[in-house]
Amino acid sequence: MRPSRQSITDLILHLHPRTVPLSTIRFSLSFGLGGMAVTLIGLLFLTGVLLLLAYEPTPGGAYASVQTLGREVPLGYWVRNIHHAGANLLVVVAVLHLLRVVLTGAFGPGRRLNWVIGLFLLFLVLAANFTGYLLPWDQLAYWAVTISTAMLGYIPLCGDWLRTFFRGGAEIGPATLANFHVLHVAVIPGCLLVLLVWHFWLVRKAHGLIGAPEGDQPVRRVPVVPDLVAREAAVGLGLIALVLLLALVWNAPLLAQANPGMSPNPTKAPWYFQGFQELLLHLHPLFAVFVWPLLAGVTLLLVPFLPDSALPGGVWFGSERGRELALAAALTGAGLALAVVLADNALAQAGAPLTDTLVTRGMVPTAAVLVLAAGAYWLVVRVLGCTRAEAVMAGLVLGFAALAALTVVGVWFRGAEMHLVAPWAQGAAAAGGLS
Ligand code: HEM
Ligand code: HEM
Repeated sequence: MRPSRQSITDLILHLHPRTVPLSTIRFSLSFGLGGMAVTLIGLLFLTGVLLLLAYEPTPGGAYASVQTLGREVPLGYWVRNIHHAGANLLVVVAVLHLLRVVLTGAFGPGRRLNWVIGLFLLFLVLAANFTGYLLPWDQLAYWAVTISTAMLGYIPLCGDWLRTFFRGGAEIGPATLANFHVLHVAVIPGCLLVLLVWHFWLVRKAHGLIGAPEGDQPVRRVPVVPDLVAREAAVGLGLIALVLLLALVWNAPLLAQANPGMSPNPTKAPWYFQGFQELLLHLHPLFAVFVWPLLAGVTLLLVPFLPDSALPGGVWFGSERGRELALAAALTGAGLALAVVLADNALAQAGAPLTDTLVTRGMVPTAAVLVLAAGAYWLVVRVLGCTRAEAVMAGLVLGFAALAALTVVGVWFRGAEMHLVAPWAQGAAAAGGLS
């Protein structure tokens, strides 16, 4: 082997072992989603540093610098579009990666800590997206961040403090931009790097990805170079090509310069928070912004530590029964969420009396959901004879499907005054939610 080739192989072998089980490098096991997330983060770091060369983090200069980037810097707008497309795709890819971990039983013993680190990575990805959102300082950015930080105010005891802390004052202004800028280009990328290294190390410590059981057969191993590396390169380069092409046709939005005196109608949070914004329309704010996200977060954190909560490793859905259960859970989750949205809308249109109280829009729906969850668990485990792991998987799928349905409603079906309107019946301004 030539010395240069040998040193590249040595570098790769710092990341991977020399050989891996054949069953773990099947594309259909992981769909390369973790690798895709890594590729997108690499692309974001690269384009982020390039954007820094033109960007000015002051309310007076930010908007103008993004305009200058588009008009005067060669390929400047393309670089911005790549950053924008990569960032939004990363949210989707990271959530799909999380679901693949659930659906292939990869959060059980030996992988629990890595699941927890994954959750923090997801939090950082959302935080990076959210802080980046403000930086162009246009109307979209200003008001999306206004509405999202206002949600923080509903958190009991420390809500006001948190809102003021992130805004750097009572309102969004120069201090907010300075805070978000430093979080976006230094603090969050630094934390991401540290956690990513830890995440990869734990994958290695667990002897690679979760593999399907091979029965009595000895585990078949293949060399990392070229078998795994060729697959990684195909996924990584394919994804980069896709993002570069996408960035040619999908322009990062830039509305008018931020105007604190004039809010757009509707004012929407960034798309990945619109599921929560949709909840706010149906629940008491304390429950929509605090109780429900807290319950969901704690459940996600604790789920691997419940005994027998992971499906049999390396087999999608665990079994044919698991596949059917997952499909039923996804349809139920999305269907229930849509039914609640429509029913609540019908009640409001029928002029139902104001019932926006802590009891009727907080405690009652929360108790109803908990009772339904307990009933569904009993039905799935006791009546249908499924395993606890299958019930846990179905619960997680149901929750994510419900959140996805609420997000779709928020992004595409909410028009002026947040009324339910079909996308084709909305004005051009109201339709641009997914940006
Ligand atoms: C920035 C986001 C993330 C990146 C860059 C990332 C990267 C990776 C990579 C490269 C792998 C190995 C290859 C693969 O499984 O596709 C992996 C595995 C894993 N990830 Fe992530 N990940 C991220 C987010 C998450 C999240 C949100 C979770 C779950 C909460 C998670 C949990 C895991 C677990 C448990 C494994 C081990 C899977 C197994 O052994 O089969 N990761 N991750
Ligand atoms: C996970 C990593 C990252 C994510 C998810 C992310 C996300 C974003 C998003 C959504 C925007 C708004 C883009 C737009 O619509 O115009 C943005 C802007 C920006 N980002 Fe990042 N970013 C990441 C990493 C970085 C890094 C590492 C840097 C620099 C070191 C950086 C520098 C910038 C700059 C200067 C802007 C403002 C320019 C503009 O808005 O176009 N980003 N980022």
